[in-house]
Amino acid sequence: MPKPRVAILISGRGSNMEALIRAAREADYPAEVALVISNKEDAAGLEIARGLGVEALAVPARPFGRDREAHERAIDAALVERNIAIVCLAGYMRLLTPYLVKRWAGRMLNIHPSLLPAYPGVDTHARVLAAGEAAHGCTVHLVTEEMDAGPVLAQARVAVLPGDSEQVLAARVLVQEHRLYPEALAALARKIRLPEAGA
Ligand code: GRF
Repeated sequence: MPKPRVAILISGRGSNMEALIRAAREADYPAEVALVISNKEDAAGLEIARGLGVEALAVPARPFGRDREAHERAIDAALVERNIAIVCLAGYMRLLTPYLVKRWAGRMLNIHPSLLPAYPGVDTHARVLAAGEAAHGCTVHLVTEEMDAGPVLAQARVAVLPGDSEQVLAARVLVQEHRLYPEALAALARKIRLPEAGA
């Protein structure tokens, strides 16, 4: 059985991307990471992906000016050309337009560093600390048009400990992100039906 081909969209260091690529190297993992795309040409994750033998492309937004959909059409063309079945956002720091979200509905995942629906948006660790929460964590969800609001596929919880700094708390959550994202992708990949060969 062919495995669904996965693309990962990044903007930066790509530690979740690396966790997904490494997990997918296991023979029994139900998906194959075939492509990494960054909107930033200098994203550290691009070199990491290449070092792990995965094709990695920069598709910068600049040439498209204010036309965000045109940028996404270029990304979509690269995905379609490589027969991608699932897209994972992993620190992709650009809001998507309805165009790309609709094209990949049910097949586009994101990881967010909070227990959604709590703390959508940025600076989650600082906001969790400021609110005096006892628990924090991360969420893998399907991407919908509303930011950080799609159906939750998986969550992992960590304790917030006395004296935690933002960095210490972020690192504790990141360990769970690297475990949770490959698990959630595997679960979705097992459910995806690939088109018959030649269809
Ligand atoms: C992670 O915390 C992820 O949850 C958030 O952005 C960060 C990306 O980090 N969406 P990395 O590039 O995967 O290291």
